[in-house]
Order: sequence, then C-alpha cells, then structure tokens
Amino acid sequence: MRKFIIYFVLLITCGFQSYAQEVIQNISSRKNISLNGRWNYIVDPYQNGYFDYRRMAFDESETGNGGYYDDKQPKDKTDLVEYDFDHSPSLNVPGDWNSQKEDLKLYEGAVWYRRLFNATPQKGKKYIIYFAAANYEAHVYLNGKKLGMHKGGFTAFQFDVTELLKLGANSLVVMVDNTRKQDEVPTINTDWWNYGGITRDVYLAELPDTYLADYKIQLAKNNLKEISGFIQIKGNQKEQKVTINIPEAGIKFNTNTNDKGYAAINIPVKNLINWSPENPKLYQVNIKTETDAVEDKIGFRTISTKGKDILLNGKSVFLRGIAIHDENPLIPGRPRSEADLRMLLTWAKELNCNYVRLAHYPHNEKMMRLADEMGLMVWAEVPVYWTISWENPETYKNAAKQLTDLIELDKNRASVIIWSVGNETPVSEPRNKFMGNLVDKAKSLDDTRLVAAALELHREGNIVHVDDVLGEKLDIVSFNEYAGWYWGGTPKEIPQYKFEIKYPKPVVISELGGAALAGFHGDQDTRWTEEYQEALYENQFKMLDQIDGLRGMTPWILVDFRSPRRPHPIYQNFWNRKGLISDTGVKKKAFFALKSYYEKVEKKYANNSNK
Ligand code: GCU
Repeated sequence: MRKFIIYFVLLITCGFQSYAQEVIQNISSRKNISLNGRWNYIVDPYQNGYFDYRRMAFDESETGNGGYYDDKQPKDKTDLVEYDFDHSPSLNVPGDWNSQKEDLKLYEGAVWYRRLFNATPQKGKKYIIYFAAANYEAHVYLNGKKLGMHKGGFTAFQFDVTELLKLGANSLVVMVDNTRKQDEVPTINTDWWNYGGITRDVYLAELPDTYLADYKIQLAKNNLKEISGFIQIKGNQKEQKVTINIPEAGIKFNTNTNDKGYAAINIPVKNLINWSPENPKLYQVNIKTETDAVEDKIGFRTISTKGKDILLNGKSVFLRGIAIHDENPLIPGRPRSEADLRMLLTWAKELNCNYVRLAHYPHNEKMMRLADEMGLMVWAEVPVYWTISWENPETYKNAAKQLTDLIELDKNRASVIIWSVGNETPVSEPRNKFMGNLVDKAKSLDDTRLVAAALELHREGNIVHVDDVLGEKLDIVSFNEYAGWYWGGTPKEIPQYKFEIKYPKPVVISELGGAALAGFHGDQDTRWTEEYQEALYENQFKMLDQIDGLRGMTPWILVDFRSPRRPHPIYQNFWNRKGLISDTGVKKKAFFALKSYYEKVEKKYANNSNK
C-alpha cells in the first residue's frame, strides 16, 4: 500500500504528462541568453533512453530517473552507465539532423540532445526556456527533471525553469522524435522532407517575477481609426498601471490591468501611416508596466473583402504571390538564420511579389518580421494537409492547438493577412466538420484577418468546378490547380479550361505550376524542360485571366525543395522541381514569365486605383 501512495504522490508532483506553457509574446525582445550552438547528441532508434527493457517510461517510474536525461557519468570504475553525452558527437542547434549528418539523412526516430550551460539565477526573477520549434515531438528535461513535452513540428513552446535552474552548470536534455504517424498533424504522407530536430532557436530568458506575457496591438477590424487588442500580465502583481507609447504616432495610452492581469485596449488614432507592401511602415511600440517593459515594431493596416474584391486599407489589391517552403536550398535543411530567410524573401521581391504563401506549416517568427519589414503580405498555414485522421478527437485537438499557437505568435505582424486552416483535404462529412471547426476557431481568435484553405476541385470535360462545401465558411476561394502538369494535356491545351466557382468571393489561386530541371532545354511539349514550364505559366495566365473574381495567386513554388516523394534519378533525385529557382539558385525561364506577368498586373491595378 505504502508503495502505491508514494507512486501516486510522485505522479501528482511530477505531472502526468505536463505540456508546455503558452509562449511569451516577442521573446527576442526579452533579456535572454541564446542556447544555440553545438549540442551533443545520441541517436536512439529504440528509445532506449526513454523506456526501460519492459517498455516502461523511465520518467514515469518511481524515481523518475534512469533515462538519458539524467546525463550521468560513472561514479567510479565499477559503475555501469551505457551512454555518455560528453563523448558523443554534436549537432548545430538550430538545425535539423538530416542535413547535418549523411547517416541521418533519412533517419526517422528519436535523437537525444544535450546542452550544458552556466546560469546565475537572481532572486525575484522568473526564468523560462523557450524553443522556437522542434520537429515533431519533444520531451524536455533540466538537471534530470522533466519539464514537459510538446507536439507539433513548427510551433514555439516554453517551460518555466525558475525552481530548477542551478547556480553554475546546468544540463538541458531534449528527446526529439520525428516519426511520422497517421493520427498526427501533419499525417504520415507529405510532399516535403521530414526534417527532424531542434530546428529553430533556443533561449533562456530572464523575466521580472510579474511580467508582460502577451499583448495584441493592431487596428480593429475594418477600422483605420482605432487600435484595439489587449495586454496580459502574469505573476503575483496582476493589477498594474500600463502605458502604451507609440511616439511617432503621438500616442501615449494609459490603462490598468484587472485582477486577472488583463486589460482590453481601444485607442483612437488619426494620421497613422498604414502598412502596405509599397510602404511597409512599422512603428516603435513601447509597452511599460510597473514591473516590466517591452519594445516591438508593429505595422497598422486593415484587410477585408467586399464582394469579389480584397481591400488593403480600404483599397482594392491583387495578391502577386509565390509559395515558399521553410527551406533555402542553398543552405541544406531547415533555415538556420535570418539571412537564410531574407534570401528567400529577396527572391520573392525580385519576382515583383507583394505576397507570399508560407506553406504548409507555421514558419519561423523571424520570417513574419522580415515580411513586415520588406513589405510582403503573408498567407500563414497549419499542416492540416491531405489525409488527416478526421474522426480522431486527439487529432483535432492537436490541429486546433497548432492553429492557436500560430495565431497567438504572429497576431501582431501586419504582413500576416490570411490564416489558412489546411491544404488539399479530401471532402467528407468528418473532414468538413473538422475543417469547419478550425475556421470557427481561427475567427474566434482573430477577427481582423481573412481565413482560407486550399479547397478541392473536380473536372467535367473542360469545366473545372470549385464547389467544395468548405468554401461557404471561408473569406476567399483558394484551390490548387495543376492544369498542364497533373491534368489538362500540354501547356498549349491549358486555355480551353473554364472555372465554375460556386462562391461570389475573391479568388486567390493557392497553387499552380509544373516542374523543370534547370538547364534542361527543348521544345514546349518536352516535359521537364524549362521551355515546358515557361509555356505552362504563359498559358496558365491566359486561362486564369478569364476568372472575373481573380484577385491573386501563389504559383508553386519559389525554389526547388527536397521531397522523399520525388525519386526520378535524372529529373528529381529527391527534389521537387516545381521551383522557379533551382536548388543551386539558377532562375529558370518561368521565373521571368511570372515576373513580367506581375509587372502587367501591377500596372493595371495602379491605373485602376488612380481612376
Ligand atoms: C500539392 C501540394 C504540394 C505539393 C504539390 C506538388 O498541391 O499542396 O504540397 O508539393 O502539389 O505536387 O508538387
């Protein structure tokens, strides 16, 4: 009986399977030390460091010890320890393991990471360890104690380590498992490389005991004259005076948080310079509480639809876009620095884009901040992709959590104009319910942005029908159509197709395109040549210009990207070649076709708005 009581008490104190907290807003502006750098690692295909030989999880055992997270060294020459981080190899963090080690290129499973770091914790301060992302499931331990776990390969998570941080040396151990599973989000089948690892930045942040945890400071829905949002304080002194200063806008707004640390904000504004791609104006925003202070750079704009029009700051806009994966082919694997990301958006600007679709999952927060700075509107998305387990409640909870994390993290980024709840999901009753609930969730979290998804279509002869029931709930009609590549014959046959779109809403094509091997030339009917891809784009424009509600597009895709689904030894070699730029940075002929099309569109819209 005694044993049972001890075990029960342990279970309560250690937490059944504690999940990470909601993340702090704007981590990079807080006082933090980077935990990026070389981390020792142990590849663990049998999860030997997590389960004992009877498949019991060490961290749920009576002692909670026994796993690799103890980071042990033999006490003396008689002691048996069958792992050793100190003498194990190391990986760069941030960075996936697939692109850093040839023998891990296709590895799926668990890898243990260990980082030693020194700390000098101060009394009256709070400490959090913040991960910008780890793909796919992460179990995190500090000095042998479990902090918790996180699921979702592209969303940030954090743990409060105030009670566990030691003066001097600390051992941070993370088990990351990137195994694909049917009931996860994304599911087992995707057309991108399953890069595993701690793929984005890691910070140790020091905060006041009562700190500014979250805020939203944006223009109210369709209202250029009012900033609205909220302030959220966490800690013991919840009721505080708060000042929001936007010096360049002549705004100094005072308020008080309530006994929950919360204050709604509504600030009348006039003469704001509204954010736009042509003038990506960002304001310095200083938020001061009695115990904390945070600075941010925020743009103010409205986005809405009116009939078949999309209105940015009340003016009709055409979304001249391109789709982008979180991968810069010139730097193997997941991008590791702001420079890697800036290169991608610079190519998009060269294409004369004012908009990007950051597919198919939440991208790095730095990417949104760069889009704010560089003047690119953003479609942001969760990886509810293809054949998700629609009827599994845990799968829905996971998807809704990832959508919430995405919206909460990027809600202050003017560049983000669209939340997408998924991509190319086969129509069924369970799918309609699942996706419809995600749409409602997105709208309940943020009524100031548009909600979309890449819908399904079906063809009868040369008529392409877009009547996916999910379209009823969305603000714009978006779909992926591959006329000239997956169907519809050769490029010259594309213009025969007509679209019948059920919904009188703006149409933003979420994918179109075809592949080309850069440097492979031939006639326009020879698949894989640059000429075929160029002709495909030229004829796509002829077909799409017939859609009277066409208000944008994001051709698939800016650059070639790695995919396990593309093995052709000559043309693909595990690269998806639909990029307009090759994996060596060569611009294919179709790049220039799209660029000149966008120049014409830009002129047409400039003339219209002068009328
Ligand atoms: C799909 C899918 C993409 C994929 C593309 C392709 O539409 O959304 O993720 O890469 O087609 O087949 O290349």
